[in-house]
Amino acid sequence: MKVLIVGSGGREHAIAWKVAQSSRVTKIYCAPGNAGISQVAECVPIGAMEIEKLVAFAKEKEIDLTVIGMDDPLVAGVVDAFEAEGLRVFGPRKNAAVLEGSKAFSKELMKKYHIPTADYQVFDNAEDALHYLRTEASFPTVLKADGLALGKGVLICGSLEEAEAGVKEIMLDKKFGSAGNKMVIEEFMTGREVSVLSFVDGDTIRIMTSAQDHKRAQDGDQGLNTGGMGTFSPSPFYTKEVDEFCKKYIYQPTVDAMKAEGRPFKGVIFFGLMLTEKGPRVLEYNARFGDPEAQVVIPRMKNDIVDVFEACIDGTLSRVKLEFEDNAAVCVVLASDGYPVSYQKGFPIKGLEKFENQKGYYVFHAGTRWENGQIVTNGGRVLGVTALGEDLHKARANAYEAVKWIDFENKYCRSDIGKAIDEA
Ligand code: AMP
Ligand code: GLY
Repeated sequence: MKVLIVGSGGREHAIAWKVAQSSRVTKIYCAPGNAGISQVAECVPIGAMEIEKLVAFAKEKEIDLTVIGMDDPLVAGVVDAFEAEGLRVFGPRKNAAVLEGSKAFSKELMKKYHIPTADYQVFDNAEDALHYLRTEASFPTVLKADGLALGKGVLICGSLEEAEAGVKEIMLDKKFGSAGNKMVIEEFMTGREVSVLSFVDGDTIRIMTSAQDHKRAQDGDQGLNTGGMGTFSPSPFYTKEVDEFCKKYIYQPTVDAMKAEGRPFKGVIFFGLMLTEKGPRVLEYNARFGDPEAQVVIPRMKNDIVDVFEACIDGTLSRVKLEFEDNAAVCVVLASDGYPVSYQKGFPIKGLEKFENQKGYYVFHAGTRWENGQIVTNGGRVLGVTALGEDLHKARANAYEAVKWIDFENKYCRSDIGKAIDEA
């Protein structure tokens, strides 16, 4: 089989690495990829949003399976474009990717089908939103731009003044562009967050092992929100009781709801959950693997991932037994100091070779590129260092040991990824 992977981050590197282990795969391409991905796939200079070019490439190279890693092309309808040309592709169609693409849609879906989530209101103009905030809201309150905003469209506002400024940013100044044409205002919840990824074939859902992300830039969950500074898997807070509750009230009900709406979902649903005092609640849905959740979940997966992708496309997932190793993984993101605000790039990265043939240690590239025969930094998040261990403590110690193998100017990472396991 010839496989094309679309995306350029650590998540796509983890997917490419796993696809490369399939005995059925003879050739992997990645568009556009990065320096690390180029070690397992042939990278082609086509952007993830250049949908027509992607389709033309897949036809020309007779690609047997395309896997879409990123949210933007999914929401823009890349899967529909591939299917229209008779090409096999893994991911939800546009009418299902809206589960991530519109927070107003996902909230209304959850309300209609009684899936537990925070109470909310949807607004399509600033005046009504401000009126609601001044008369009915309690604080803190949560403002969410409706559309995709690179993970930055959520504002937690402690006071009316902050919330008024937030409405202005999202709906009037259009800080997130058309993503702010509508806005959700929702109840502020507290509790521990868990990421649960799943494979879905339209009817059947298979849950992957759980994970937890660390979204803030600095230790102790201080600093600005980022794309994710590190992850661990499994989450010790994702207990059997939580799993049973979610299976009954969240996972299958979501899949059934999408089907009932005429929007059957095929691909990965990522459930962002908050474990509140009143039980698990959905914070958000994503229509793809998490990044950096993929970097801890995929290395623990036993199945041939290509078989699972195909079962989702063919509607045969009920025949698949999804299995994960009985171990743990921790991923520490190595970023450029200053991320997510401003940072320099182009620095040579040393020590990558130390990961070769080190079983249970992986370095997934996020922002890297080749320059004059060496790999240099090329983004805010540069690398994801993942290590396995027989339990979370060992995996964490291994990951922080491996972090020392890598060196580049302005290297920055959090030192408390996975520290929360001590509270379990
Ligand atoms: P989202 O993109 O919807 O996952 O939101 C990003 C982050 O904002 C989440 O991971 C939470 O930390 C936080 N958040 C979102 N919604 C809420 C809420 N209703 N209550 C408290 N925190 C929230
Ligand atoms: N790690 C969170 C996300 O991928 O959205």
